[in-house]
Amino acid sequence: MSAMDQLKQIRFEAQAAIEAAASSAQLEQARVEHLGRKAELPNLLRGVASLPPAERGSVGKAANQLRKELEAALETRQSDLERAELDARLATDVVDVTLPASPVVPVGRLHLVTATRREVEDIFLGLGFRVAEGPEVEHAYYNFDGLNFNSSHPARLWTDTFYVSEDVLLRTHTSPMQVRAMELHAPPLYLIIPGRVYRRDSDATHTPQFHQVEGLAVDEDITLGDLNGTLTTFARAVFGDERKIRLRPHFFPFTEPSVEVDVSCFNCRDGFVRDGSRCPLCKGTTWIEILGAGMVDPNVFEYVREFGYDPDRYTGFAFGMGLERIAMLKHGVTDLRLFYDNDLRFLEQFG
Ligand code: DAH
Repeated sequence: MSAMDQLKQIRFEAQAAIEAAASSAQLEQARVEHLGRKAELPNLLRGVASLPPAERGSVGKAANQLRKELEAALETRQSDLERAELDARLATDVVDVTLPASPVVPVGRLHLVTATRREVEDIFLGLGFRVAEGPEVEHAYYNFDGLNFNSSHPARLWTDTFYVSEDVLLRTHTSPMQVRAMELHAPPLYLIIPGRVYRRDSDATHTPQFHQVEGLAVDEDITLGDLNGTLTTFARAVFGDERKIRLRPHFFPFTEPSVEVDVSCFNCRDGFVRDGSRCPLCKGTTWIEILGAGMVDPNVFEYVREFGYDPDRYTGFAFGMGLERIAMLKHGVTDLRLFYDNDLRFLEQFG
């Protein structure tokens, strides 16, 4: 076969192999086979020098041209293959950016008691109070004695209170933190104390464990007017800007004078609801009791006098509210036990 015929044959086979290559790997194989060191065309090029002088020029030129032609064909095929591979990848990797990023993980929500506690905390933080917490297992001294309870007060009875030992108990209110806080910090003091409390009581409006928020403000010249203003602000923030409060005389061992605080009813007009019947929330009285309060009894200051609480220099007010009660009034919850049944149908309505 003449060298020219041989070149024709090489062109035919190499072009077929290049066209047939269906992947970059197959194309690389075709390149090695037809242009690699041991392939026919490079071999022929290396042998041009030993051809008869008359053929040398034309064969050399044709062989070189074929090599360039095949290299160009390889390059074209390579970019065709790359484009096709990219297109295929793009077609299968379709991303719809309008879909949610991932399946939506169901998020929990705050329990109504927690949400209400935070709401109350926010209001008092806004008024310059700080938030503190205290122990639920408490010494009788802080729960009763230091708060001026006399030794025969009925709340001390084992029928009312959970005792751990003779003088250690589950606190029956958050008020013991008044004494603890005053032992730790000299006046002025502006503090609220949210937390769990325990009593031996169980019915639709009492559970053995519930939550209170205690408040204590001690400074020079604190008056009942300051208590009135603070609690009016609180009542309006929770129950609406139209609310009024009233203070009714009451008795607590640790405040003098003591008051119970009512908020004006937000459920009725003059004690009657739309259909003309008596308002079930305020029982037609137009007032709803929300908490107990008063001016800190000087006897309480005597217990902490050595920590800087001179009753001749300082006065203070204190208050204590049931968190569940606030939540029940605000959200129309009728049974306290719903807070602790953990029924999602109830819990999911809030927070
Ligand atoms: N500790 C009282 C209770 O549990 C509530 C209370 C009343 C707290 C008057 C106070 C207060 O700080 O001044 O019934």
